[in-house]
Amino acid sequence: MSRIGVFVSGRGSNLAALHAHLARTGGAKVAFIASDRANSGAIAWARERGIQHAVIADQLGQPHQMLSLLRAHDVELVVLAGYLRLVPADVVRAYRGRMVNVHPALLPSFGGPGMYGARVHRAVLESGARVTGPTVHFVDEIYDHGAIIAQWPVPVFADDTEAALAARVLRAEHLLLPRVVQQLAAGTIRLDDAGRVMSAHRELSPERAAFMFDMPEEDALADSMAIALGT
Ligand code: GRF
Repeated sequence: MSRIGVFVSGRGSNLAALHAHLARTGGAKVAFIASDRANSGAIAWARERGIQHAVIADQLGQPHQMLSLLRAHDVELVVLAGYLRLVPADVVRAYRGRMVNVHPALLPSFGGPGMYGARVHRAVLESGARVTGPTVHFVDEIYDHGAIIAQWPVPVFADDTEAALAARVLRAEHLLLPRVVQQLAAGTIRLDDAGRVMSAHRELSPERAAFMFDMPEEDALADSMAIALGT
């Protein structure tokens, strides 16, 4: 049974989705929850369920606190689910290939420092992009930068508000993140020594992130494009 540690800054809906999925599928469980905010919904949520948890109030002042907590709780995999701070480099090193983040846009676009929450969706809307969606990636020392494991396309509609778009992407996050974590826990997805994302069957390169998309023959593809363009 893989022990998962989840880091959360905000409400924790991805945490809840992950917990529910793992409770159904088994093989891994949410064993520890950490937040940089005492008033995070995730801390109350953990308390109600009797899941071990901690508030990491000032991680910059205590760079080793996070690592000791993870070790003390035998955490094997770390999931950043709406965690807004940069993870200290010693923790990233210790958990290389065993720490993932979920981001609500298709990286490498619309990511990096300051790109979180509504700002991400606002930037997507302002860009005029027609497709967005969640990215799950391994964590490295740079915000939103590590090797991409999986992405899922979500349409952007002309009359979208930030809230409507955020809600549509969040639905996909809640499905994608738990499934990636399940595969990581099972060892069927992993980061190799060269930094490539490998699945049981093939390489999932950073350039070719994992999602199912049927690429039909030219005629069918052209028909779909004509329909999408309103012709
Ligand atoms: C999600 O959109 C996630 O992609 C981003 O922060 C948000 C967290 O939402 N990193 P929640 O706390 O899981 O509800």
